[in-house]
Amino acid sequence: MKKNPKRIGLAIIGAGRVGLFRGEVAARHPQVDFIGLAEIKPDRAKFVADKLSADFVTADYRELLARPEVTAAIIATDEHLHVDPILAAVERGLSLLIEKPLATELSESERVLEAIQKSGVDAVVGYTQRFRRRWLTAKEKVRTGQLGDVTLVTSRAFMNRLVALDNYQRTNDPKTISPMVISGTHALDIVMWMMEAKRPVEVYARSIDKALGPICNGIDATAGMITFEDGSLYHSSISWALPVVWPAAVYSLDVGIVGTEGVLTIDDTHRDIVLATNISQGEGYAPDASRRVDFLGSYPPGDVALGELRGPMREETEQWLNRLAMSLPTQHATAAEAHNRLMLTKAFDLSAKQKRAVPLPIGTSDTKQRQGPLAAE
Ligand SMILES: NC(=O)c1ccc[n+]([C@@H]2O[C@H](COP(=O)([O-])OP(=O)(O)OC[C@H]3O[C@@H](n4cnc5c(N)ncnc54)[C@H](O)[C@@H]3O)[C@@H](O)[C@H]2O)c1
Repeated sequence: MKKNPKRIGLAIIGAGRVGLFRGEVAARHPQVDFIGLAEIKPDRAKFVADKLSADFVTADYRELLARPEVTAAIIATDEHLHVDPILAAVERGLSLLIEKPLATELSESERVLEAIQKSGVDAVVGYTQRFRRRWLTAKEKVRTGQLGDVTLVTSRAFMNRLVALDNYQRTNDPKTISPMVISGTHALDIVMWMMEAKRPVEVYARSIDKALGPICNGIDATAGMITFEDGSLYHSSISWALPVVWPAAVYSLDVGIVGTEGVLTIDDTHRDIVLATNISQGEGYAPDASRRVDFLGSYPPGDVALGELRGPMREETEQWLNRLAMSLPTQHATAAEAHNRLMLTKAFDLSAKQKRAVPLPIGTSDTKQRQGPLAAE
């Protein structure tokens, strides 16, 4: 470990929920001596700048990136707006923490990955679940061979529809938004991280759009299977169209890992802490007044208690700052892994769209064929 940690001048681009969470963690880190914000909504910019006692605030991320104090950047804009700020930060040679996904289009993601690799900047992507003990333990059991040869992994993700509605409303191109690309990617990353010794060769999937199709031209759910080179299987299902009253704020997950010598099951549904109340509070993801029952702990970044974020996004941000200051190794997803996850989620969508098995990996030209709503196929 280096004894002389480096100073960090942090640029936060996009001061929404995640920009604020990460900014609050950074503001408490001893090596961070400058925080600058770029946020296009003036009220939000002021609110977050006051909370963080930010040193610099602007609506123009280029102006922020030009500041000499800046050594690193967090890209926390909406999912479909990551590309331009990433490319500008890469050009400036900054270390990066990028929110997932790298981009929402495969060609854009490829372009971003190329720029990152060519420049040699240290860029990691916010697959926050990697910082939870349960997934780290699972990773360790697979890595050290305690389950034998892993032959089957299953993941089932249930989400109420608030995240889906929010995503479809925010985009001007609903075709780039899908449950796999936006949310399924978290479960997929955990599983593919555990299975990193094996090469995925085929995906077979189907989707359904009976609930969200009529409302926002959206997809409700996708179920499918990845086959690995040695015949092992990953069976995945996600629905982000459960009724708004479904008590999990975001993710409610069930994972099974079966090997030749053992099995590991992980109930990550968050049913162990249930809050029911008549009083609606501004907690959780885009809270809806009709939601009076909550599985606490189901908001992936963590929970705020005693004025501070507690949970995986705090750990992930702190470890990233330590990685920058002291060159410590961390388990953050690399940009190459993030691009791979986008490719795989797009392959699920492509297979569902074309109603056929799709060989892996897919390329940019494959996804270009995917046009129009699901029901039109
Ligand atoms: N890892 C996790 O657990 C996790 C959880 C939630 C969200 N996320 C990811 O974090 C990202 C942000 O999500 P969020 O929930 O904070 O969204 P949000 O809508 O609360 O915040 C996004 C902010 O970016 C701002 N913005 C957009 N374009 C901008 C630009 N060019 N310059 C400056 N500001 C700009 C918007 O005005 C908005 O305030 C998304 O990619 C999302 O997928 C990750």
